[in-house]
Amino acid sequence: MATVKLRLAAGENLLDRLLEQRVELAHDCGGTLACATCRVIVREGLESLGAASEDELDMLDRASTFEPGARLACQAISGEGDVVIEIPQDAALRIAAPSQGTGINLSPSAARHFAAQLAKHPGAVAVRLAVQPAGCSGYKYRVDPAAAIGVQDVVFESNGIRIAVDPTSLPHVQGTTLDLVHDGLARRLRFDNPNAASTCGCGESFGT
Ligand code: FES
Repeated sequence: MATVKLRLAAGENLLDRLLEQRVELAHDCGGTLACATCRVIVREGLESLGAASEDELDMLDRASTFEPGARLACQAISGEGDVVIEIPQDAALRIAAPSQGTGINLSPSAARHFAAQLAKHPGAVAVRLAVQPAGCSGYKYRVDPAAAIGVQDVVFESNGIRIAVDPTSLPHVQGTTLDLVHDGLARRLRFDNPNAASTCGCGESFGT
């Protein structure tokens, strides 16, 4: 199961937007309302999407998809707003990107930095932000290019950069803003992490 956060503009087709964001959601019939493989669960922002037609509801019934918020992505046309979309595990071929929202934010300078880093790694589809234990009660950040995104990952989008976070790291970094700051002649990432009760001098490790 993967969760994708998106900011939609009016008139966008949800399947097109997810594919554009490299969410490899199955869509076997090509959007002709004949397969239900593009089903998703809209966890937040359902009101941002136009109402489902009778034909879409029939197809969801036939696919035994009765969960509240269930939609066929190929049939969902957006109004304007933020949505949180859950991709059922059997519908996701492979999540390779997306999203937007309050989870992880990049300053414009950090986003430019990551865009340059990703350009040096052909095949990278996102930046992976993770934490690993450091010391007896702390954590250290890891930021790496991600060649793929697992179905358990939550993916955020900020200033045009996708950031993938695994479910173990997520509680430790949710709400973090990354900035690129100058430290003399050097540049370094600064993590503004609301979950950090203490931070070391260099800012690269923290305690909770
Ligand atoms: S892609 Fe087949 S119903 Fe949406």
